[in-house]
Amino acid sequence: MAIIAPSLLSADFLNLQQACTMLNNSRADWYHLDVMDGRFVPNISFGPMIVEFFRKATTKYCDVHLMIEEPEKFAEAFKKAGADNLTVHLEACTHLHRNIQQIKSLGMHCGVAINPHTPVDALKDILADIDLLCLMSVNPGFGGQSFIEHSLQKTRELKALITAKNLNVKIEIDGGVTLQNAPAIIEAGADVLVAGNTVFKSADPAATISALKDL
Ligand code: DX5
Ligand code: ZN
Repeated sequence: MAIIAPSLLSADFLNLQQACTMLNNSRADWYHLDVMDGRFVPNISFGPMIVEFFRKATTKYCDVHLMIEEPEKFAEAFKKAGADNLTVHLEACTHLHRNIQQIKSLGMHCGVAINPHTPVDALKDILADIDLLCLMSVNPGFGGQSFIEHSLQKTRELKALITAKNLNVKIEIDGGVTLQNAPAIIEAGADVLVAGNTVFKSADPAATISALKDL
């Protein structure tokens, strides 16, 4: 059974309390919170202040996905805001190992995300140091995009790498996850499914979460 992490980016921001209540009463495991800076990605979303509000609205695990440059400047602020996991992008970190050390020393789980063009091989020397690998299955920046099929092959490669080294790293697939493609994604080795549009644009979000959970 996969961990289901709905992305609040696709929620109605005028009715966030309603979205949180729905999630809290649903079978969703995590809150997936997408932070964008308008530099690393061509969009701006929200920062630590909003994460803090989500923290107060739930006891569920808060998975914060930073799509920002210089994440070291904000790691402490996100810790204070209540993040359980902080994910940084490999492509945004010149000294990725230092970023990982910083996040762990602040007492959070650490994730690393890679864009669709980044090969899984690039992770080989840091896999043992992280808790989560976020494989982007769309180009980050927007919800509601189509799943890039090659991500399935990357998921299988990553799964093989993790199994060969006997590591405890979760594979999270982020972008374009639907009820139709989720079975193949799980089959390829995913542990965590992020779902934005599939959940929040559906007629019955809680039922959609439940359907994802039952796959
Ligand atoms: C994309 C974000 C995703 C996105 C997922 O930049 O990291 O978390 O919101 O949304 P869907 O599931 O709609 O692709
Ligand atoms: Zn995300």
